[in-house]
Amino acid sequence: MQKVIVVNGPNLGRLGVRQPDVYGKQDIEQLRRLCEQWGVEYGLAVEVRQTDDEAQMVQWMHEAADRQMAVIMNPAAFTHYSYALADAAHMVLDADMPLMEVHISNPAARDEFRKRSVISPVATGTITGLGFLGYKLALEAVADLTK
Ligand code: DQA
Repeated sequence: MQKVIVVNGPNLGRLGVRQPDVYGKQDIEQLRRLCEQWGVEYGLAVEVRQTDDEAQMVQWMHEAADRQMAVIMNPAAFTHYSYALADAAHMVLDADMPLMEVHISNPAARDEFRKRSVISPVATGTITGLGFLGYKLALEAVADLTK
Protein backbone atom coordinates (compact mmCIF):
# COMPACT_ATOMS: atom_id res chain seq x y z
CA MET A 1 0.00 0.00 0.00
CA GLN A 2 1.34 3.47 -0.89
CA LYS A 3 2.43 5.42 2.19
CA VAL A 4 1.53 9.12 2.43
CA ILE A 5 2.61 11.60 5.07
CA VAL A 6 0.32 14.57 5.61
CA VAL A 7 2.68 17.16 7.02
CA ASN A 8 1.38 20.31 8.70
CA GLY A 9 3.59 23.26 9.58
CA PRO A 10 3.69 25.91 12.30
CA ASN A 11 0.59 26.91 14.23
CA LEU A 12 -1.58 24.24 12.59
CA GLY A 13 -1.56 22.37 15.91
CA ARG A 14 -3.79 25.27 17.02
CA LEU A 15 -6.55 24.52 14.51
CA GLY A 16 -9.97 24.96 16.09
CA VAL A 17 -8.85 27.84 18.31
CA ARG A 18 -6.72 29.81 15.84
CA GLN A 19 -8.81 32.21 13.73
CA PRO A 20 -11.79 29.83 13.34
CA ASP A 21 -13.33 32.29 10.87
CA VAL A 22 -10.35 31.60 8.56
CA TYR A 23 -9.33 28.01 9.40
CA GLY A 24 -12.61 26.52 10.68
CA LYS A 25 -13.66 25.07 14.02
CA GLN A 26 -12.23 21.58 13.61
CA ASP A 27 -8.95 20.70 15.30
CA ILE A 28 -5.90 18.75 14.14
CA GLU A 29 -7.23 15.51 15.71
CA GLN A 30 -10.34 15.78 13.56
CA LEU A 31 -8.13 16.40 10.54
CA ARG A 32 -6.11 13.30 11.48
CA ARG A 33 -9.20 11.12 11.75
CA LEU A 34 -10.62 12.44 8.46
CA CYS A 35 -7.35 11.91 6.58
CA GLU A 36 -7.04 8.36 7.93
CA GLN A 37 -10.64 7.66 6.90
CA TRP A 38 -10.04 9.09 3.40
CA GLY A 39 -6.84 7.03 3.24
CA VAL A 40 -8.93 3.87 3.73
CA GLU A 41 -11.27 5.03 0.93
CA TYR A 42 -8.39 5.62 -1.46
CA GLY A 43 -6.28 2.62 -0.46
CA LEU A 44 -3.45 4.71 1.03
CA ALA A 45 -1.58 4.29 4.32
CA VAL A 46 -1.90 7.81 5.73
CA GLU A 47 0.04 9.32 8.59
CA VAL A 48 -0.77 12.87 9.74
CA ARG A 49 2.02 14.90 11.34
CA GLN A 50 2.39 18.45 12.65
CA THR A 51 5.38 20.48 13.76
CA ASP A 52 6.27 24.08 14.45
CA ASP A 53 9.90 23.30 13.56
CA GLU A 54 11.35 23.97 10.10
CA ALA A 55 14.21 21.49 10.59
CA GLN A 56 11.69 18.76 11.42
CA MET A 57 9.73 19.51 8.23
CA VAL A 58 12.96 19.31 6.19
CA GLN A 59 13.87 15.97 7.81
CA TRP A 60 10.42 14.57 7.05
CA MET A 61 10.99 15.41 3.36
CA HIS A 62 14.29 13.51 3.47
CA GLU A 63 12.49 10.57 5.07
CA ALA A 64 9.76 10.69 2.39
CA ALA A 65 12.39 10.69 -0.37
CA ASP A 66 14.35 7.82 1.23
CA ARG A 67 11.28 5.68 1.99
CA GLN A 68 9.27 6.48 -1.18
CA MET A 69 6.42 8.10 0.70
CA ALA A 70 4.12 10.56 -1.09
CA VAL A 71 3.70 13.92 0.64
CA ILE A 72 0.74 16.19 1.27
CA MET A 73 2.08 19.36 2.80
CA ASN A 74 0.49 22.38 4.39
CA PRO A 75 3.69 24.36 4.95
CA ALA A 76 1.76 27.13 6.78
CA ALA A 77 3.90 30.28 7.11
CA PHE A 78 6.98 28.40 5.78
CA THR A 79 5.15 28.52 2.44
CA HIS A 80 6.12 32.10 1.99
CA TYR A 81 9.84 32.06 2.75
CA SER A 82 11.43 28.67 3.42
CA TYR A 83 13.86 27.91 0.62
CA ALA A 84 15.20 25.09 2.80
CA LEU A 85 11.78 23.43 2.73
CA ALA A 86 11.42 24.09 -1.03
CA ASP A 87 14.79 22.39 -1.64
CA ALA A 88 13.77 19.47 0.56
CA ALA A 89 10.41 19.19 -1.23
CA HIS A 90 12.31 18.93 -4.51
CA MET A 91 14.00 15.76 -3.20
CA VAL A 92 10.58 14.11 -2.88
CA LEU A 93 9.90 14.74 -6.58
CA ASP A 94 13.41 13.51 -7.41
CA ALA A 95 12.42 10.27 -5.68
CA ASP A 96 9.45 10.06 -8.12
CA MET A 97 6.91 10.70 -5.41
CA PRO A 98 4.13 13.30 -5.71
CA LEU A 99 4.05 16.27 -3.35
CA MET A 100 0.74 18.09 -3.01
CA GLU A 101 0.63 21.55 -1.40
CA VAL A 102 -2.57 22.26 0.52
CA HIS A 103 -3.81 25.43 2.19
CA ILE A 104 -6.99 25.56 4.24
CA SER A 105 -7.55 29.22 3.44
CA ASN A 106 -6.95 30.95 0.11
CA PRO A 107 -3.66 32.78 0.71
CA ALA A 108 -4.04 34.67 -2.60
CA ALA A 109 -7.10 36.43 -1.17
CA ARG A 110 -5.37 37.47 2.06
CA ASP A 111 -2.32 39.53 3.15
CA GLU A 112 0.22 40.60 0.54
CA PHE A 113 2.99 38.40 2.07
CA ARG A 114 0.80 35.30 1.63
CA LYS A 115 0.53 35.77 -2.15
CA ARG A 116 3.92 34.22 -2.82
CA SER A 117 4.57 30.54 -2.27
CA VAL A 118 8.13 29.26 -2.62
CA ILE A 119 6.70 25.72 -2.44
CA SER A 120 4.25 25.96 -5.37
CA PRO A 121 6.96 25.92 -8.09
CA VAL A 122 8.18 22.63 -6.63
CA ALA A 123 4.80 21.02 -5.84
CA THR A 124 3.10 18.49 -8.09
CA GLY A 125 -0.10 20.46 -7.51
CA THR A 126 -1.60 23.01 -5.15
CA ILE A 127 -5.08 23.14 -3.59
CA THR A 128 -6.16 26.25 -1.70
CA GLY A 129 -9.25 27.71 -0.07
CA LEU A 130 -11.36 24.57 0.40
CA GLY A 131 -10.84 23.92 4.10
CA PHE A 132 -10.21 20.30 5.09
CA LEU A 133 -11.72 19.18 1.77
CA GLY A 134 -8.41 20.23 0.19
CA TYR A 135 -6.67 17.37 2.01
CA LYS A 136 -9.24 14.89 0.70
CA LEU A 137 -8.74 16.07 -2.87
CA ALA A 138 -4.96 15.93 -2.41
CA LEU A 139 -5.24 12.32 -1.19
CA GLU A 140 -7.38 11.47 -4.21
CA ALA A 141 -4.70 13.03 -6.43
CA VAL A 142 -1.95 11.01 -4.70
CA ALA A 143 -3.97 7.79 -5.12
CA ASP A 144 -4.39 8.53 -8.83
CA LEU A 145 -0.78 9.57 -9.39
CA THR A 146 0.71 6.53 -7.63
CA LYS A 147 -1.59 3.78 -8.97
C1 DQA B 1 -2.11 28.38 5.58
C2 DQA B 1 -1.93 29.77 4.96
C3 DQA B 1 -0.64 30.41 5.40
O1 DQA B 1 -0.51 31.70 4.84
C4 DQA B 1 -0.62 30.55 6.92
O2 DQA B 1 0.63 31.06 7.33
C5 DQA B 1 -0.97 29.29 7.63
C6 DQA B 1 -2.00 28.42 7.09
C7 DQA B 1 -3.48 27.75 5.25
O3 DQA B 1 -3.64 26.56 5.47
O4 DQA B 1 -4.39 28.44 4.78
O5 DQA B 1 -0.47 29.03 8.74
O6 DQA B 1 -1.10 27.52 5.05
